[in-house]
Amino acid sequence: MKNDLKLPVQDVNLEPFMATPPQYTRKKVLMKTDKVYKCKIINVIDLTEYEKLFHLKILDRVERKIFQFRPGQFVMLEVPGYGEVPISLSSSTNNHEYIELCIRKTGRTTNVLHEASVGAYVGLRGPFGNSFPMEKMQGNNVLLIAGGLGLAPLRGPLYWVSEYRDLYKDVHVLYGAKEPSQMLFTYQYNEWEKVNHINMLSIVENPDENWNGRVGMITELLDEIEIDPINTYAIVCGPPVMFKFVCNRLDKIGIPMNKMFVSLERRMHCGMGKCCRCMVGSTFTCVDGPVFDYWSVLNLKEAI
Ligand SMILES: Cc1cc2nc3c(=O)[nH]c(=O)nc-3n(C[C@H](O)[C@H](O)[C@H](O)COP(=O)(O)OP(=O)(O)OC[C@H]3O[C@@H](n4cnc5c(N)ncnc54)[C@H](O)[C@@H]3O)c2cc1C
Ligand code: FES
Repeated sequence: MKNDLKLPVQDVNLEPFMATPPQYTRKKVLMKTDKVYKCKIINVIDLTEYEKLFHLKILDRVERKIFQFRPGQFVMLEVPGYGEVPISLSSSTNNHEYIELCIRKTGRTTNVLHEASVGAYVGLRGPFGNSFPMEKMQGNNVLLIAGGLGLAPLRGPLYWVSEYRDLYKDVHVLYGAKEPSQMLFTYQYNEWEKVNHINMLSIVENPDENWNGRVGMITELLDEIEIDPINTYAIVCGPPVMFKFVCNRLDKIGIPMNKMFVSLERRMHCGMGKCCRCMVGSTFTCVDGPVFDYWSVLNLKEAI
């Protein structure tokens, strides 16, 4: 009997399908992020009563060189015997000597970490998560807006625009804190302004007797600068309640929601899409985020 059934090539030979495999980003993340880098604390800077800046050096010289990350990513920091916590990378992507992490003491692991001194050893996994699209922002004005501890994750993009300053137009840092004593990185503001030509504006809600700066809410700083909504990108880091006020205000100014980026924080365990601890709906904050554009955030149920 004649068999005139002609099978398409693809059915018997899967090669053509395999030529362009789908992007299993989550799998890629899994493959590279179970490595623990052994690090030594080489410097500790007291920033406020509750926040310290730690400089960590990866012990292995080769690993130190290959550890690369992007602004907005985070690491899982292990304090041996106590726990592991997600912390935003707060350093320059071009600093291959040490990693900067700004850490607030809030509980079990971070309290112990605040007791650690220079010479102590910790473990580090990562880098994890996506990042701010710094290349997309080139040729535009950039608004970097932070509230409180939000200046820690904002430092990554801030270093980036400073180091590639001529690729960006006007850069503004708007920083709001509850009290003057809670302001972070005050020793760097002059450098950002004078050396990196960044317009730095700060404001506090509750001034003390020594404060002679602005008093009010962070959104008030937006009245002080001229914003060209078509050519401006914004990065907003801070407590979720701040996102709503700031992003709604930016929306009114006319900045498209897909040009505003926020960094979402959720409780995390694995950092690599395994434990589901960080899920918002069907979205993994650790792998699909922590950086989201504001349009996506509004479409994520209960994200903020
Ligand atoms: C992506 C990401 C980046 C982060 N970056 C930084 C950073 O740069 N600097 C920094 O100081 N902290 C950062 N955090 C928060 C930090 O991970 C938590 O403060 C830390 O895990 C608390 O651990 P703990 O064992 O000290 O406290 P715990 O004893 O576990 O908890 C103490 C208190 O903190 C709350 N808490 C714990 N984890 C979180 C969380 N993820 N978000 C909000 N509240 C939490 C708990 O509900 C509890 O009230 C980040 C979190 C995420 C998810
Ligand atoms: S932290 Fe485990 S899935 Fe995101």
